Amino acid sequence: MEKLIKRAAKDLSGSKNVVALTGAGISIESGIPPFRGKGGIWEKIDPMEFAHIDAFMRDPAKVWNVLIKEMKNITDTAKPNDAHKALAQLEKHGILKTVITQNVDGLHQMAGNTDVIEFHGNFAWQRCMDCNRKIKNDQVDISQIPPKCECGGILRPDCVFFGEPIPTDHLMRSQQASAECDIMLVIGTSAVVQPAALMPVIAKESNATVIEINLEKTPLTDQISDYILLGKSGEVMNRIMAQMERFD
Ligand code: APR
Repeated sequence: MEKLIKRAAKDLSGSKNVVALTGAGISIESGIPPFRGKGGIWEKIDPMEFAHIDAFMRDPAKVWNVLIKEMKNITDTAKPNDAHKALAQLEKHGILKTVITQNVDGLHQMAGNTDVIEFHGNFAWQRCMDCNRKIKNDQVDISQIPPKCECGGILRPDCVFFGEPIPTDHLMRSQQASAECDIMLVIGTSAVVQPAALMPVIAKESNATVIEINLEKTPLTDQISDYILLGKSGEVMNRIMAQMERFD
């Protein structure tokens, strides 16, 4: 692993256009559970029953009561961890340009990254189904479920439910950033959900170096990634940043 830490530190130090693609794994150390695998959210609740747009339209109160309230409690208290902070440092040093995240917790922005493409939207805001007004989560009165906008419309999280398209501008910008980067840092994603999992393929096809950080191998590992650093994202990023300081 030490050799790979040194290799990643050297690769990143020499780059001016790194793009990170992050998934739920990067937020585990902030107390946010993953979707899949041990303790994953989808182990407890069926995504098709509670995270699909059709389910929400059929019975918004049911989805609000289970998924949204559970997610709201988690995201309202979560703080960025060392991995989020390291990506913010890489942007400060002019190495990292953009974070493409599948997460809806807003932790990258909280850590200080300024160009974050939220592929699946975020849970920090609610949006009115009628007038499209956006309201910050902590301003939403959830004593009445589903919560209503002043105009009487039902509020929904400003995230992308299953069954909904990725906002076109997010998709286009992500594809462009992936095609232009010289390194893609893929952190904490099982790389099974499309089209997010396509970004590393686009990066690879554009001759970028694809570096994975994960607890375990993913479908990208032997096909697309140049190498994988197996470990917790917070610890691995700390070791890479420490190694980069030795180069300075
Ligand atoms: N450090 C690094 N990686 C980790 C850690 C950790 N501490 N803990 C878990 N992981 C890895 C797991 O090995 C797994 O590969 O993070 C990944 C989490 O996978 P998922 O839970 O599937 O999350 P993600 O890949 O973001 O899911 C994609 O699916 O359900 C939808 O919209 C949801 O955005 C989500 C999308």
